[in-house]
Amino acid sequence: MFEGRVALVTGGGRGIGKAIAQVLAKHGAKVAVSARSTNEINRVADDIGGLAITADVSNYGDVQRMIDETRKHFGQPVDILVNNAAIVGPVNSVNFLDIAEWVKALQVNVNGVMYGIYAALPGMVPSEWGRILNITSGAGRGTGIPHLNAYSVSKAAVDMITRNAAVDLDGSGVTINAYSPGTVDTEMQTEIRETPIEQAGGETAAMFQNFYESGNLADPRLVATYAAAIIASDRNGEIIDRRSFPADLEKLRQHFT
Ligand SMILES: NC(=O)c1ccc[n+]([C@@H]2O[C@H](COP(=O)([O-])OP(=O)(O)OC[C@H]3O[C@@H](n4cnc5c(N)ncnc54)[C@H](OP(=O)(O)O)[C@@H]3O)[C@@H](O)[C@H]2O)c1
Repeated sequence: MFEGRVALVTGGGRGIGKAIAQVLAKHGAKVAVSARSTNEINRVADDIGGLAITADVSNYGDVQRMIDETRKHFGQPVDILVNNAAIVGPVNSVNFLDIAEWVKALQVNVNGVMYGIYAALPGMVPSEWGRILNITSGAGRGTGIPHLNAYSVSKAAVDMITRNAAVDLDGSGVTINAYSPGTVDTEMQTEIRETPIEQAGGETAAMFQNFYESGNLADPRLVATYAAAIIASDRNGEIIDRRSFPADLEKLRQHFT
């Protein structure tokens, strides 16, 4: 399905990013993975025969280098970019949160996504084909999750970056969508679950504990098949939730199971 394509997955060292990198590689793409933890991305790159690039997405120089190194290594530009890297950020009530941590979370979760798009487009547009998939979250919709201000705000911004960029890119052959994977069994979930209740607040602590205890955390490998289906499609400008996945995309997803 992805033969001849070069993909870059940010935050590809573990969790959802690792699983997306694996499914793209299994279906023919040449894949680079990036993150700050070199040992994790090295393991994934070894596993899939890909490239590992140590990079922090909140630093534009790192992001440009990651795009350039991928192009150099595989001999062609990145044509599939998965903006997956993100952090939870400060978990606390708005009147107690650490404002420097709040800014840092937006630098990673919002600037990091925009940096990736900005650096990848010059390689995608001339070939009139490109796929950008931003990993978003239900936390960015509705009223957001209590005590998760930075995370909720950042994912709302990711949704709007996606919609806005899709309009600009319409007709170019480059599509951009956002994928909301639901609750997934990764370190990010563990981190929130392990936050002291006085910071997480009773409602949020109970909600995340309940995801875990009720068996509502999906396997990242399953979650990744949905991402692959969106990338394989021609959709543009959509925020697609795994739990209300469109029927035509579900058909496409079967190729990746
Ligand atoms: N798990 C869920 O239930 C859930 C639900 C909805 C949405 N999501 C979204 O899914 C995506 C993946 O999350 P996950 O659950 O797989 O989390 P995870 O297990 O914590 O993995 C996050 C990945 O992002 C990387 N990363 C974090 N900060 C980075 C930075 N500044 N620069 C480069 N890489 C960075 C991490 O590596 P390093 O720390 O080594 O850099 C790691 O590889 C995120 O966008 C998240 O918001 C997750």
